[in-house]
Amino acid sequence: MNLLITYYSREGSTAQIAQGLAQATGGTLRELVDSHRMENGGMFLALLAALLGLGTTLVDPDYTVEPYEALVVMTPVWIGNPAPAVTTFISNAVLKGKKTFIVAVGGTAANPGAIARLEKRLTAHGASVVGHGEALGYIPDPKAKRPTDEELVAEGVLLGETVRQAFEPQLWSPAGPSGTPE
Ligand SMILES: Cc1cc2nc3c(=O)[nH]c(=O)nc-3n(C[C@H](O)[C@H](O)[C@H](O)COP(=O)(O)O)c2cc1C
Repeated sequence: MNLLITYYSREGSTAQIAQGLAQATGGTLRELVDSHRMENGGMFLALLAALLGLGTTLVDPDYTVEPYEALVVMTPVWIGNPAPAVTTFISNAVLKGKKTFIVAVGGTAANPGAIARLEKRLTAHGASVVGHGEALGYIPDPKAKRPTDEELVAEGVLLGETVRQAFEPQLWSPAGPSGTPE
């Protein structure tokens, strides 16, 4: 199946999980890059934007989704909300009729509010949401043990099976998924 995996990652955990998901599904990875500096006041403004459901400015944004049959939208969870970069992607891509799957990455793997908000946004732009998954990224506490890159990639690989099952199985070719990195 021709699958696009689009993600934003500030600290890197979502990026590692996305790598694993791409390995497992053959999907094409596309990173969303926020143009705003996140240090000091920048992060505060980014969090405010997340809370208010606002977007941001992306660096070299690519909103092309037409060639893909299906889309995975991955976001870190910030105070119970999707990251602004993902909101911007959803606002600008032509999603009408696209099948999508949401992945929320958080310091806990229970963020139903963030998923519900993303689902609402995706369906408001004409996409259908076939499923969602949650993954455990970094716990925002310097004392907490960080998962290794290998562990994060393994999480993504595991998630791949759920994603494959959520999209109609007939979309997968008998030879298995075939995608190429962008
Ligand atoms: C300011 C801030 C707010 C966060 N809020 C939440 C939250 O509400 N729920 C949650 O599960 N994790 C929360 N986290 C943790 C991140 O979602 C987690 O560290 C994630 O792995 C970050 O993804 P990244 O490494 O791709 O940037 C928060 C992290 C930061 C820095």
